[in-house]
Amino acid sequence: MFKMEIEWKDEILYQDLVKWGDRLKKEAPFFKKLLEGMVPSNSQVLDVSCGTGFHLVMLSKWGLSGIGVDISEQNIDEAIKLAEKSSVQEKIKFVLGDILEIENKVGESKFDFIYCIGNTLSIFNTQDRNNIIQQLINVLNPNGKILLQAVNYLAHVNDTEWYYNPNLQRSNNGSLIFHIRIMEWKIKKEKVTMYVQKILQGSKDSDDFELVRKRTEFFIPRKSDFDNIQEQENLQVSFLGDYQGNKFDEEKSNDLVVIIEKIN
Ligand SMILES: C[S@@+](CC[C@H](N)C(=O)[O-])C[C@H]1O[C@@H](n2cnc3c(N)ncnc32)[C@H](O)[C@@H]1O
Repeated sequence: MFKMEIEWKDEILYQDLVKWGDRLKKEAPFFKKLLEGMVPSNSQVLDVSCGTGFHLVMLSKWGLSGIGVDISEQNIDEAIKLAEKSSVQEKIKFVLGDILEIENKVGESKFDFIYCIGNTLSIFNTQDRNNIIQQLINVLNPNGKILLQAVNYLAHVNDTEWYYNPNLQRSNNGSLIFHIRIMEWKIKKEKVTMYVQKILQGSKDSDDFELVRKRTEFFIPRKSDFDNIQEQENLQVSFLGDYQGNKFDEEKSNDLVVIIEKIN
């Protein structure tokens, strides 16, 4: 008989929320374009908040080498496993660390391509975010590029509540995962709260289901937060509204995508 045991849990695996095949297919052409002109075998990459390592593994298959840093032990363990499974463990390293101290973490290393994507920057307030970005600039080689991406919550400023399309997928162990992300503005529209509700099947053959939920608050990154960075002499900063290359429009764009180039 069908049985549903519901248990509330606080933890959700990040990798279970993402359809990686679809996501990389969409993002790969944008990465390829940014990397035009770089010689892969001479280029070092830094993945800032690498999650479970999918992007860095993709880049290593294109010939690049580099480091991924993330604060989650679980994500780093998964990233190391993915690199081994993809036979690229000689080219890339995944290390546990706080990106608020990313400069210390990478030591003397410098990079040709640095990226912090997947909306990680929204976790931090403006001061911490600026601090992280300045550290990334410090470890960027001349002629190198930084790619930053965050959700542009301001496109939803007139909504009181909105949601991302529900997602149904099979995990690696065959279990079924159904989840929905609901977004709500906080008081004065200074922050956004994300509620994730997920129904998780134990395994493909199991009739045990769990209901899992998570609540996260995000800060709102704005184009104007980059004013001080734009003033730095050796930097060229450009803004896009998505990975298709459309111009950034604060009222309409899905994303705030920022590209910082060091021009000497
Ligand atoms: C939304 S995920 C994005 C992961 C990946 N960049 C992507 O595009 O899918 C946010 C990641 O940031 C990591 N993270 C959060 N705070 C961090 C910190 N202070 N230092 C390093 N990583 C952090 C989390 O562990 C998680 O893997």
